[in-house]
Amino acid sequence: MKYRTLPRTDLQLSAIGFGCWAIGGKWWGDDVDDKSSIAAIHAAVDHGINWFDTAPLYGHGHAEELLAKALGSRRHDVIIASKVGVRWRHQINDHAFSDLSPDHIIEDCECILRRLRLDTIPLLQVHWPCECSTPLEATLEALMALRDGGKIRYFGLCNYASRPLQQALAYAPELASLQTPYSMLRREFEFALRDVVAPEGEQALGMLAYETLCRGMLTGKFGAAPRFPSTDLRHNDERFREPLWSRAQGLVSALRLVGAKLNVPPAALAVGWVLRQPGVSVAIVGAKRAAQVAEQVRALELIGREKIWAALQPHVDRTRV
Ligand SMILES: NC(=O)c1ccc[n+]([C@@H]2O[C@H](COP(=O)([O-])OP(=O)(O)OC[C@H]3O[C@@H](n4cnc5c(N)ncnc54)[C@H](OP(=O)(O)O)[C@@H]3O)[C@@H](O)[C@H]2O)c1
Repeated sequence: MKYRTLPRTDLQLSAIGFGCWAIGGKWWGDDVDDKSSIAAIHAAVDHGINWFDTAPLYGHGHAEELLAKALGSRRHDVIIASKVGVRWRHQINDHAFSDLSPDHIIEDCECILRRLRLDTIPLLQVHWPCECSTPLEATLEALMALRDGGKIRYFGLCNYASRPLQQALAYAPELASLQTPYSMLRREFEFALRDVVAPEGEQALGMLAYETLCRGMLTGKFGAAPRFPSTDLRHNDERFREPLWSRAQGLVSALRLVGAKLNVPPAALAVGWVLRQPGVSVAIVGAKRAAQVAEQVRALELIGREKIWAALQPHVDRTRV
C-alpha cells in the first residue's frame, strides 16, 4: 500500500479507502451479508488500507455499527471518515434530505460517535448540500464548534459544486476535503479540480474520489447490460441501460484486453487511472467481499507504468456516458 498525506492535515491516508455504502445492506442488492462484509473489512486492513468512508445513511446506521464491530479495538488506529446532515425519517416520496442546521449536525455527530464507539471522528464530511434554508456559514460554524470541542478532528464536504466550494473555503480555509465522483467514465468534476481544489501552486484541499469503478461497470465483469433486482440502486441507473451502456463498452473492452495482457484485473486499472490524476488525493472504492479488495489494491503496482496509461488514455478520452 502507498500512503498520501491529505493536504494541509496530518492525516496519512492509504491511496485506496474502503467505501462502506454497500456493506450497509441497503440499495446494493440481495447479496450483502455481514459475514462477507466483515471479511472484506479485515482483508482491507491486511492489505494496508487504513481508512474507511462511511455515513449514517448507509444501512441507516448499520454500516457504522458493522465497521466498529469488524475493526474492534483497531477502530482507534485507522481513520474513519463519516458524514453528517442526511435525514431519512419522515422523508417525503422516499427522498432522504439534507438538513445542515447546526442542531442537526451536532445531533447527527453524537449518533455517529455512539455507533462507531469513538470519542473523536477523524474526518466528518457534509454528505450533500443543504436542502433546508441553513446558510453555509452556519453549517461551517457548527463543524468548527465540533472540532474545537474535540468531537471531530477535521471536516470536509461532499458533492459541492465549485462555486459553493469556493465560498466554503473563503469562510473556512481549514476545510480538509471534498468528496466527489470521479472515474474514467465520470470526469465532469475536472474543471473544479483544476480551478478550486488543485490550482497552480499549493493544493487547496484534499480530493477524495468516489464511484471510481462506476458502480462495478469498470471491473469488466458484466458481459451484457445486467438486470439488477429492484433492491439494487443500479436497477434505476441509466448507465446500466441503453444507450449509455453501449457507449461505455469500448472502454470496458480495452480494460479487459489490457488487463488480460498484463494479468491484472480491470478494476485495478480503473482505480490506478484515478490515482494518477493530478489533484486527486485518494480513491474510495466500495467492496462487499475480500476478493474484491484484493483486486482493487493491485492498482498500486500499476501507477508508474506509463505505457499502460498511454495505451488506455485514448479510450478514456473518447468515452462519455
Ligand atoms: N459522498 C457521497 O455522496 C458518496 C456517494 C457514493 C459513494 N460514496 C462512497 O464511495 C464508496 C464506493 O461506492 P461507489 O458508489 O463509489 O461504487 P464503486 O466503488 O464504483 O463500486 C463499488 C462496487 O463495485 C463492485 N466491485 C468492487 N470491486 C470489485 C471487483 N474487484 N470485482 C467485481 N466487482 C467489484 C461491488 O458491487 P457488486 O459486487 O454488487 O457489483 C462494489 O460494491 C461508497 O461505499 C461510499 O463510501 C460516497
